[in-house]
Amino acid sequence: MRRRGRLVSWMVVVLVGMASSLTIACNSERPSTGERLKYGQAIYGRACATCHGREGEGMPMLGNRLRDNAFMNERSDEQLVEFIKEGRPSNHELNTTGVDMPPRGGDPSLDEEDLAQLVEYLRTL
Ligand code: HEC
Repeated sequence: MRRRGRLVSWMVVVLVGMASSLTIACNSERPSTGERLKYGQAIYGRACATCHGREGEGMPMLGNRLRDNAFMNERSDEQLVEFIKEGRPSNHELNTTGVDMPPRGGDPSLDEEDLAQLVEYLRTL
């Protein structure tokens, strides 16, 4: 009986250890919503704000308004990521301003995960 008791307590120790390292692993892979938005905002400030304005209000002759933007509202997050990757050159048939929207805002270092967090931030504008 005594021996079985000891075995059970060892199993508890091992299971608790496994559970807590799993929690740590999950947390480090998935930053909190607040962290993701902060990261997205930093990218926006670096790669988009010069043309679209600090708060997405738009800048004359540079980039249009992204707040309450119909094009954005009609698209899913995935579609917006795709759009940002491609941009929209001034000779594109859907271009409305005659100004280039550069692919990835001109920052080729932005990867898939950066763009996903950027889009999460765009939704809060
Ligand atoms: C060099 C200026 C410039 C930069 C930098 C830039 N954009 Fe743009 N963006 C534009 C222009 C100009 C348009 C409008 C193109 C057109 O006339 O259709 C546009 C269009 C868009 C649209 C489509 C809006 C609509 O109404 O059709 C989205 C969404 C967008 N940009 C997001 C971004 C994001 C996100 C970034 C940062 C990664 C970014 N842009 C960086 C100039 C820029």
